[in-house]
Amino acid sequence: MRTAALILAAGAGRRTGGDRPKQLQDLMGRPLLSWSLEVLNRHPAIAETVLVIPPGAETDYGAFAAGRHVPGGDTRTLSVRAGLAALSDDVTHVLIHDAARPGLTPGLVDRLLSAMDTAAAAAPALPVVDALKRQTPSGLTGVDRSGLYRVQTPQAFRLDALKSALEASGDDLVDDLAAVEATGLEVILVPGEDRNMKVTHASDFDLVARLMAPPATAPRIGSGFDVHAFAPGDGVVLCGVTIPHAQGLAGFSDADVAWHALTDAIFGALALGDLGDHFPPGDPAWKGVSSEVFLRHALALAAERGYRLASCDLTVICEAPKLKPHREAMRLRTAEVTGLPLDAVSLKATTTEGLGFTGRREGIAAQALSVLVPEVRAP
Ligand code: CTP
Ligand code: MG
Repeated sequence: MRTAALILAAGAGRRTGGDRPKQLQDLMGRPLLSWSLEVLNRHPAIAETVLVIPPGAETDYGAFAAGRHVPGGDTRTLSVRAGLAALSDDVTHVLIHDAARPGLTPGLVDRLLSAMDTAAAAAPALPVVDALKRQTPSGLTGVDRSGLYRVQTPQAFRLDALKSALEASGDDLVDDLAAVEATGLEVILVPGEDRNMKVTHASDFDLVARLMAPPATAPRIGSGFDVHAFAPGDGVVLCGVTIPHAQGLAGFSDADVAWHALTDAIFGALALGDLGDHFPPGDPAWKGVSSEVFLRHALALAAERGYRLASCDLTVICEAPKLKPHREAMRLRTAEVTGLPLDAVSLKATTTEGLGFTGRREGIAAQALSVLVPEVRAP
């Protein structure tokens, strides 16, 4: 058995938009197509890989075109045929993979190769789990989803079976699996993988990156800092607690400088920019809004990325108001909103001994540290 891999990257890759075809666009710091190419190149059972690229695109494909490659055709089917013609004579089996599926794993390649022990063709597939409806002029009709699969690539073939199937189908440019089945040979489905999704639209880059990202194990640490100037008023809001004072704080939202620093510390741990990126100042949506909204948003983004806040340490810097009488209420409110146990919420207050803008009582500064830990998932 000598197995080759064809990687199809000769499409226009247009539906994603952008200045380059999708297969050359960046996914987690590398061109999309390099991810599956590397898996196939490194797999010990794959003897050769041939990349199919658009005709005349050598310059755009740079280093990829330095490796083994052939020009594709106007359709995927024609690109497959061009790639097959370029395989070495002693190849007995071929995996045909869409470069548009960067999440290929060595495990999936293994499953396909095992299936080739008994079958002429095999493809990864996932059962359809959503309800299916067909829209007709008279309304929606139900479609039975039993036995329906979403088929992925690579599709694996015994080369002789595929070649004679394609010859038999002649100019009918049917897909490779259908051509093999039409010759009466069995096609086996092996379990596909969600991360092996096809990148089709721009939003798929984000989705596939999340599915491909290895589970995080290390904690993340972030810092935040914020300042608000005093303004006429009769109190300030710190950690969601209203504290009576001879002045208020200037700001577009409720000017809760302590929670702003904490929110930025969470964004910082996630490398997600800062408060201004997420809540542009001047946007009427945030006028007078409670900073609890900002804090909860940052926590939700952490959860989406598999992290939860494990502890925080806040320092509020001002000459007045005196914070000690309010400290426990501020910790408690922060614990409530973040879901942290009280002993994981630290709050310190300090003056600057009359020095600087806080010493001159021009405003309040706050700094925060956050520790985020990976959420433990069920295996
Ligand atoms: N493909 C190919 N040759 C073609 C057309 C498509 O090699 N003439 C490849 C694509 O590069 C892709 C795979 O077939 O890896 C699946 O096609 P699709 O997802 O439709 O990609 P594109 O045709 O490149 O994208 P679009 O349809 O958005 O332009
Ligand atoms: Mg296409």
